[in-house]
Amino acid sequence: MALIIKPTERREIEAIFALRRDPDVLLHQYRPRRSETPESFARKLDAPPDRLGMSFRCTSILVDDVMVGHVMQHFGPAPDPRLNACECGWNLAKSHWGQGIMPRALTLLFDQLFEEDPKLLIFASCFTSNHRSRRVIEKLGFQRDQMHWIVWLTHLIRSRGRRIEQFRLDRRGYRLALAHLAAVESLERESASD
Ligand SMILES: CC(C)(COP(=O)(O)OP(=O)(O)OC[C@H]1O[C@@H](n2cnc3c(N)ncnc32)[C@H](O)[C@@H]1OP(=O)(O)O)[C@@H](O)C(=O)NCCC(=O)NCCS
Repeated sequence: MALIIKPTERREIEAIFALRRDPDVLLHQYRPRRSETPESFARKLDAPPDRLGMSFRCTSILVDDVMVGHVMQHFGPAPDPRLNACECGWNLAKSHWGQGIMPRALTLLFDQLFEEDPKLLIFASCFTSNHRSRRVIEKLGFQRDQMHWIVWLTHLIRSRGRRIEQFRLDRRGYRLALAHLAAVESLERESASD
């Protein structure tokens, strides 16, 4: 299986929306807002950072040359003014769940993001019921984070009462998690060859 990531192209945006509207994905994810259309998404991708320094990127995930998922990234100032923030949201087609694809894709992306900006803080949030995404978040070294109460309330209203948790990841935590994963994989290989 050949997995690559690359910046999303305009021609892929319809497929991203199809995935975001897939009923299996919508069990674990917000439906795009009414104002979020393929056209507004394309405009956001093309736009330079706004006055507050906020900008948007999207990364496509391809397996054997077919797009199977994406990672949306909103960049902006972090709560600590010495750092920068990137809020990530991701989705994968159900046909490809459970094969370790998202952790591999996120590893490729986070390597790039921390290389570009060692002071980056990556944020992710997921519904408490989303065990798969929670596991991905855990494996990559994210730590639980306190959500601002206004953000928490906005989520509560938008999700109609579903609990959501926020996590944060810095470069050090990410490197430690990768080292831990490599050690576990090496132990598993050793015990398989015994
Ligand atoms: C969440 C998602 C991105 C995970 O990607 P993935 O490539 O399938 O992730 P993995 O294959 O590494 O599986 C993640 C973990 O979930 C575990 N898992 C699989 N099925 C599970 C289940 N029914 N309940 C709990 N955990 C489960 C896997 O065992 C794996 O953990 P492990 O590595 O310790 O074995 C993908 O399933 C997805 O896009 N889901 C729908 C949309 C979504 O949830 N988006 C994220 C919103 S925050």
